[in-house]
Amino acid sequence: MSGQIGDAQLALAYTGLHAPRNRNAASELDPVPQTPPPPVTALLLPNAEGIAMAAQTLREGGLVAFPTETVYGLGGDATNDLAVARIFEAKGRPRFNPLIAHVADIAAARRLTKWSDRAEAVAQAFWPGPLTLVLPLADAHGLSPLVTAELPSVAVRLPAHPLARALLAAVGRPIAAPSANPSGRISPTTASHVMAGLSGRIAAVLDGGPCSVGVESTILGLTEDQPALLRPGGVPAEVLETLLGQPLRRHAPGEAVSAPGQLASHYAPGARVRLNAHDCAPGEVLLGFGPMECALNLSPKGDLAEAAAALFSALHSLDALNPAGIAIAPIPDVGLGRAINDRLARAAAPR
Ligand code: TXA
Ligand code: MG
Repeated sequence: MSGQIGDAQLALAYTGLHAPRNRNAASELDPVPQTPPPPVTALLLPNAEGIAMAAQTLREGGLVAFPTETVYGLGGDATNDLAVARIFEAKGRPRFNPLIAHVADIAAARRLTKWSDRAEAVAQAFWPGPLTLVLPLADAHGLSPLVTAELPSVAVRLPAHPLARALLAAVGRPIAAPSANPSGRISPTTASHVMAGLSGRIAAVLDGGPCSVGVESTILGLTEDQPALLRPGGVPAEVLETLLGQPLRRHAPGEAVSAPGQLASHYAPGARVRLNAHDCAPGEVLLGFGPMECALNLSPKGDLAEAAAALFSALHSLDALNPAGIAIAPIPDVGLGRAINDRLARAAAPR
């Protein structure tokens, strides 16, 4: 955890959330100003006070970005329609894609879904962790219909990050949380990425330092007879297939996207992205993998977990240089490499 900001700075940030507006005798007589000051997004420290402040804000319907082991999530109370609507508004999401309901424990996931033996087996093996399960929605679930986009199923996840777990326990309700980035842009893996994209649009960011996994959770569909890989992510598909003892269904080319939020163009930096590059064209910067000459290297020793953890930060940093393009070295398409290549293909897709 980083905790790089001092208490004075934190106190300053807190004033945006809770201090009453400064009013003196003179201003009581003056006309009330028409334009409200821009909202301040508080940066909360990863301690008991920060967690309590984040939990209170969420329970009151405010939005708080928080770290998970995959990426930072933009959290809102999943049982509160207004809070969930604000998530879409803050991200500028063009339509109501279903969101993942994050839960504090397996019991909470069982209450939201029609749980199954298969769900129990994968949850026991991979939760808490970077895996989301899509299951039929329970009859009395209590979630805002905006969370599920009125589908008969719901995505649930029990994250491993200690701050996410502490926050979920303190709130005591499921938290809807997409990645905490403006719609279509690179996902955030640090609090400063979140601030760069959403400052002034959300109440607070709980700063837990960089995310360890770096790509979003794997989404496993358990609504049909054959389990389906709806999105590759932090738990490699091969590992799930071994546990389940059967292959996962993957969507065929041309078939409708399986997870409705999986748009072709996503994770897009401002710069054009070129994949499988071995060198740079004029104006491009090269993002490397394995031993090579490049502007930035995802993992000089060719380690896929290290590369996944570095991926979004590297795209943010290179994009900040305003290059004509970002050229990216080939990444082996196995294990976590599949999740990396999935995100890179979307970053490079025509917009
Ligand atoms: O690692 C993660 O999963 C992060 C962290 C914050 O937990 N969250 C995340 O959320 O990536 P988001 O909203 O960016 O992606 C959620 C994906 C979307 O593609 C959405 O379409 C899919 O989950 N999804 C949600 N509910 C679904 C459902 N009922 N059926 C199929 N796909 C669903
Ligand atoms: Mg996202």
